[in-house]
Amino acid sequence: MQNDTKKEIVLSGIRPTGYLHLGNYFGAMRNYVRMQEDYNCYFFVADWHSLTTHPDTKELRNSVHRVIAENLACGLDPDKAAIYVQSDVPEIAELYLYLNMLAYKGELEKVPTFKDKVRLSPDNVNAGLLTYPVLMAADILIHRAVKVPVGKDQEQHLEMARNFAERFNHRYGDVFPMPRAFNFNSDLVKIMSLDGKGKMSKSENQMATIYLSDSDELILKKLKKATTDQGPTEAGQPKPDFIQNLFTLASLVSEPAVSEKFEADYNNCQIRYGDFKKQLGEDMARFVGPIRDKALAIQEDKVYLEKIMKQGAEKARQSASQTIKIVREAMGIKY
Ligand code: TRP
Repeated sequence: MQNDTKKEIVLSGIRPTGYLHLGNYFGAMRNYVRMQEDYNCYFFVADWHSLTTHPDTKELRNSVHRVIAENLACGLDPDKAAIYVQSDVPEIAELYLYLNMLAYKGELEKVPTFKDKVRLSPDNVNAGLLTYPVLMAADILIHRAVKVPVGKDQEQHLEMARNFAERFNHRYGDVFPMPRAFNFNSDLVKIMSLDGKGKMSKSENQMATIYLSDSDELILKKLKKATTDQGPTEAGQPKPDFIQNLFTLASLVSEPAVSEKFEADYNNCQIRYGDFKKQLGEDMARFVGPIRDKALAIQEDKVYLEKIMKQGAEKARQSASQTIKIVREAMGIKY
């Protein structure tokens, strides 16, 4: 514990909407698992954020449990990282309130993610949606985190978090360090959708996305349907990106000998995509299977889940309440 205070603080949040897939696993979670060894990590489920677009809460409890269970199944360790739910930490809401006074309507309206959401659901342009980046800033600043592992799509939000932090520091005194995007290792793995159309994403073509909750049969089926072409016609021909993606997946889940064999077949123009996809499907099922089964078991063990969430909330609140104390003092909210 003593040692922990010297480690840099890493924080990331995940919205409990949609199911986790291989893109999340190789792009994010696998890195989080490594980070928890070297950093003081906070990972949380952003349930308040999900309310900005998903006001119906019928499925919320289930979704929150699933996200926590999936993260644990992937190797996050509640004794190393603080794993918690956003709404269990009321200090975040208080900081959000203060930061809202430093955020301008004009700059919030200009945020591309806001404009996208307005376009997608013009009937639900609520103030929470507008101030989404402020809440995200509060998530980060509440632990005075400096490293935030997020994808490209979140970099603008992160820049706004720095702006709010700077404005606060300027007005009330030096409280917040500047949070920066954190790419744990430079060889960031990008996983494409199996139909070759963009990155594997939460909501789009479900048959082209491998979810951590997919059954073995479904994984085999999805790989069978993965987009291929007529095959190479010249030795050593470069691979189209949807074919490269299958090789990337093989490099992640198959034995090296398997990748080597099909690589050689490709280069000799002898590759049989059917065989490749069948082998890859089997290797993939072997990889995802244990994560899926573990996540399911955890998700059903409500007593364990509650214990983990309580433990995480306590850790998070300890850090959050220290920040709020300093914030209130700096602002003169101390009577
Ligand atoms: N906005 C992030 C996303 O959509 C989720 C998120 C909420 C987050 N709060 C955060 C990520 C704080 C990093 C830090 O993916």
